[in-house]
Amino acid sequence: MDISELKKQIAYKAVDTLVHDNMKLGLGTGSTAVWIAHRIGELLTAKKLNNIIAVPTSLQTQLECEAIGIPVRSLRDPFLQGKLDLTIDGADEIDSRRRLIKGGGGALLREKICAYASQAFAIVADESKLVSTLGAVFAVPVEVIPEALYIVRKKIEKLGGKPLLRMGQKIAGPVLTEHGHMILDVAFGGIDDPRALEGNLKSIPGVVESGIFTCPVTCIVIGRTSGEIEVL
Ligand code: 5RP
Repeated sequence: MDISELKKQIAYKAVDTLVHDNMKLGLGTGSTAVWIAHRIGELLTAKKLNNIIAVPTSLQTQLECEAIGIPVRSLRDPFLQGKLDLTIDGADEIDSRRRLIKGGGGALLREKICAYASQAFAIVADESKLVSTLGAVFAVPVEVIPEALYIVRKKIEKLGGKPLLRMGQKIAGPVLTEHGHMILDVAFGGIDDPRALEGNLKSIPGVVESGIFTCPVTCIVIGRTSGEIEVL
């Protein structure tokens, strides 16, 4: 099956299986997660789904929700009390213990905040994202306060990583996140202990967040190139 059609089918399956009336939902970012908003919009329009509140994890997702007409709120809205029922998001790598690398789209900070605010955290991905060892291929995105760029680079090198500053496309200079930070994509050539590395990165002053996610993943909806979709 064509990969973009597969991503759509994965997201549709996730919504049809996991989303119910009256839910407060974190909506992830990326080319798979974007279809989540589309399916929710379809179901809301058809009145097969009611009373959904969405918290987008990025401007990309917020714009999609607004265009589709899905009611959007910020996680800081007191109405939500910092709690979501479910967040559905994509991933760049998933290992057999459901640990993740995320942040390929640069939205790792709000993605992690929503994941931790949620009672359930579901991942939508095609099978190319399943790996035996995290970080053997994909570099770990690390969001950094610009002032600390030099010192964070040095500390990351001491941890065994090779950091590369993410550069913008069709704009001069580095990528700046929605929060005004820079992103270092750090090659580790395989990560033995993702939880320890997540903690070590977070403890560097100037690091805002890393794309290593070791929080519980309650459900993975995985699409095979054969077109088969499994809910794990
Ligand atoms: C964005 C992310 C995405 O979820 C991740 O990059 C996967 O995206 P895609 O479904 O387009 O491959 O973490 O920050």
